Amino acid sequence: MLITGASRGIGAATALLAAEAGYAVAVHYHRQEAAAAKVVSAIHGKGGRAVAIQADISRESDIVRLFSETDRLLGKLTSLVNNAGVLERQMRLEELDAARLQRLFTVNVIGQMLCAREAVRRMSVRHGGLGGTIVNVSSVAARTGAPGEYVDYAASKGAIDTLTVGLAREVAGEGIRVNAVRPGFIYTDIHATGGEPGRVDRLRDRIPMRRGGTAREVAEAILWLASEKSSYTSGTFLEVAGGR
Ligand SMILES: NC(=O)c1ccc[n+]([C@@H]2O[C@H](COP(=O)([O-])OP(=O)(O)OC[C@H]3O[C@@H](n4cnc5c(N)ncnc54)[C@H](OP(=O)(O)O)[C@@H]3O)[C@@H](O)[C@H]2O)c1
Repeated sequence: MLITGASRGIGAATALLAAEAGYAVAVHYHRQEAAAAKVVSAIHGKGGRAVAIQADISRESDIVRLFSETDRLLGKLTSLVNNAGVLERQMRLEELDAARLQRLFTVNVIGQMLCAREAVRRMSVRHGGLGGTIVNVSSVAARTGAPGEYVDYAASKGAIDTLTVGLAREVAGEGIRVNAVRPGFIYTDIHATGGEPGRVDRLRDRIPMRRGGTAREVAEAILWLASEKSSYTSGTFLEVAGGR
């Protein structure tokens, strides 16, 4: 299983859970090499198999190398967790500029689409593959729109939802299932990037369950969608959002 953005947050929790479930895991990271190494050594410590691989998801050549390194180090890819994603400081749409939109859409949309392409080229029975699963990490923001915070980020996740439905139907007859999780407010570093590390606690009262979620709770949903347990499920979304 290749998990993008697995050095921290939801990706790291997914890597640990995947290793417990018996997957050999490619722990992709961008800048935080030490954090990725910690995830890998935690997996090794429990007798699992994992490697850390660096790549900038905003560069197509890096993505191509990420997948070929995964082939070389771990063998045939059976699952991709398309998790790496970014947001920028909270602001209204009227303050956004094109450079920010370019950065955001290059990672969140173009990056995820190119990673999906690499996975399909390896998994599709059309190309001699054995099938597999792709789990995209979208967001509840795709349906709420994140007004006043980051409409651009929400729109990028809307694109991921459309990718999930379209690609799922495109490759359903080729042994590949494509689904997405839509996390709600989850305790990770991403909110600090938006300029508000305490965001989840501020918004807690808007969540029917009255608490933020953990990365591990999202990882459980991802693992289910990646596994044979969801064998008749494709092109759909699993919300992990405390009922929101
Ligand atoms: N946390 C939430 O409340 C929430 C809610 C809904 C959806 N999500 C989605 O869940 C996914 C994971 O979010 P998170 O909260 O776990 O985020 P996070 O803690 O901020 O981690 C982000 C991950 O993405 C990687 N990354 C960032 N920029 C990259 C780039 N240019 N190329 C490659 N990798 C890059 C980071 O690598 P380095 O560590 O090496 O920099 C890190 O592993 C994202 O798609 C996010 O949109 C999160």
